[in-house]
Amino acid sequence: MPTAVADRPAFLEVTWHDDHTDAVGYVVIDRLLRGVASGGLRMRKGCTLEEVRGLADAMTKKEAIHLSNELRYVPVGGAKGGIDFDSRSPDAPGVLERFLDSLGPILRTYWAAGEDLGVQQDVLDEIFERRGWGSMITPVRALLPDPEEADRRIAEAFEVVVDGVAQDELVGGLGVAVSALTALECSGRRAAETTAIVQGFGSMGGATARFLAEAGVRVVGIVDADGMVFDAEGLDVDAMLGARDRFGSIDRTQLADRVEQLPGDAWLATECDVLVPAAISGTITDENQGAVLADFVVEAANLPVTASAEASLAERGIRVVPDFVANSGTNAWWWWLLFGDVDGSWRESRALVEQRLGELTREIFTLADQQSTTLRSAAQQLSAERLAVLEDRERTLVS
Ligand SMILES: NC(=O)c1ccc[n+]([C@@H]2O[C@H](COP(=O)([O-])OP(=O)(O)OC[C@H]3O[C@@H](n4cnc5c(N)ncnc54)[C@H](O)[C@@H]3O)[C@@H](O)[C@H]2O)c1
Repeated sequence: MPTAVADRPAFLEVTWHDDHTDAVGYVVIDRLLRGVASGGLRMRKGCTLEEVRGLADAMTKKEAIHLSNELRYVPVGGAKGGIDFDSRSPDAPGVLERFLDSLGPILRTYWAAGEDLGVQQDVLDEIFERRGWGSMITPVRALLPDPEEADRRIAEAFEVVVDGVAQDELVGGLGVAVSALTALECSGRRAAETTAIVQGFGSMGGATARFLAEAGVRVVGIVDADGMVFDAEGLDVDAMLGARDRFGSIDRTQLADRVEQLPGDAWLATECDVLVPAAISGTITDENQGAVLADFVVEAANLPVTASAEASLAERGIRVVPDFVANSGTNAWWWWLLFGDVDGSWRESRALVEQRLGELTREIFTLADQQSTTLRSAAQQLSAERLAVLEDRERTLVS
């Protein structure tokens, strides 16, 4: 078995300067595997090269950890793009278009991109269509056993709606819920005797809350951008989903009388077993980690817990299931669909997300317990080992 690859600089980093505004954009291709790297494009004021680098590195880990000999999908490399500009500015569409024009050659050859914070997929698709560039996954098409069949599966999969929610908005949160439930199981806890609080009630938070509740977990708090709704007896998650708008905000006028409304920052200090940050990065920090009462933090958002806060949580025995495992369901599902590991039906999609996220979470618990280390260290080790296998295969192909 090849040894884990030591930390290395990214394969490629590009800094782009807009010639109409002060926008600066970054692309980091952390690794190219089989000639392709995958990762979203975000736009937010204050975005830095360091942030994009960290996210691209996390994408490589999120890809590599899913290596499995039983699947047709073989992981590709990780990438990320970021534009330092206010996505709500009237100039934002022009900035995005000029960025895509400048980076077009990279996007069309080896960066399979998609939406991320502040960038919508339909806007990206429309720009690509207008330019005649095909789809954003063009770089991956050469790797697909049957690209036309993949198109058909994708079209069908994106038509599937489960209880009013499109399945592509469910798979990510389903994966987070499975990770959380497996974490409880690995610690000898019963779902029916546990409580959870979810910060963020959009695609990820909404689906996580839904599948936790379905498994019998009492979801006592949900936080959106307007604050926390709380019920110590357990919220009616279906009713909350019914009162949610497309931005993930809960209509407070539809709340039952017993539901309390609390400030958004009350969530950390509220008693529960599992905390799921599913909104923003950097929400659990050195300053507020001391308030955490839960036993587990399961990361649905990217980088929601800072590294030093995580170290302090670990000292207090609070375990963090890392983002590149817990929230990897959407990314993995997309590839399973493209490569034909699932047929696009909810039955197959749900079954594979449950199987793989359960297996991965169990693996990192076992390794962390064997080595008396954190779940993140264990996951990093597994991911690095699998990346080494992938890179070794790549070298064999080239030589
Ligand atoms: N959607 C995916 O498939 C996916 C996959 C992996 C990771 N993620 C990450 O998960 C996070 C959430 O993604 P999403 O797609 O669910 O977003 P979304 O836009 O659908 O929902 C965001 C939710 O967070 C809430 N929110 C925003 N600011 C908040 C704040 N300061 N405090 C509390 N709540 C706040 C909003 O009210 C909304 O409920 C992001 O960090 C994203 O990068 C998403």
